[in-house]
Amino acid sequence: MILPIYTLGQPVLRQVAEEIDPQSPDIQQLVQDMFETLDHSGGIGLAAPQVGHAKRLVVIDLDPIREDYPQYAGYRHVFYNPYIEEYDKSHQESMDEGCLSLPGMSESVKRPTRIRVTFQDEQFQEHDEWVDGYLARVMQHEFDHLDGKVYTDRIIGLRKQLIKNKINDIIKGRFSCDYKVKVKR
Ligand code: NI
Repeated sequence: MILPIYTLGQPVLRQVAEEIDPQSPDIQQLVQDMFETLDHSGGIGLAAPQVGHAKRLVVIDLDPIREDYPQYAGYRHVFYNPYIEEYDKSHQESMDEGCLSLPGMSESVKRPTRIRVTFQDEQFQEHDEWVDGYLARVMQHEFDHLDGKVYTDRIIGLRKQLIKNKINDIIKGRFSCDYKVKVKR
């Protein structure tokens, strides 16, 4: 089932998400719905709060960007209870990001290029590993959602002032997009 995407202004996007039991049938159904929703909306990552659930659950599908990043062809995974344990601050990079919860916007965000993450995979196996490159970028974006953060929170200074009106428009529901959304009214 395709779920509506909650857009900025919905309180669930600002909550700290709770840990889940990945083996519960409810969660398995939610994962299936999240992948379907992601396919429909043309995104590459989706966090459970973006469909109204304050739960530590993320799906990532990098196959749509395989032309630019052939190493991620077929990369389609679910992350249960993920956490960023460490940031390697020795190297940071700026890159454009967008978010299904902030339709019609994209902004450059500076982030570390390498992080240490823990999570459970689709076989419920525990992982503790260093990740780099574009995947590290997507994970930071998605896992931030689980702590009530969106990418524009990471933008500082003058640029932050310049995008304030755009963000307020989204909060007030003044935008258009071609996927199903749930806006704050
Ligand atoms: Ni996002």
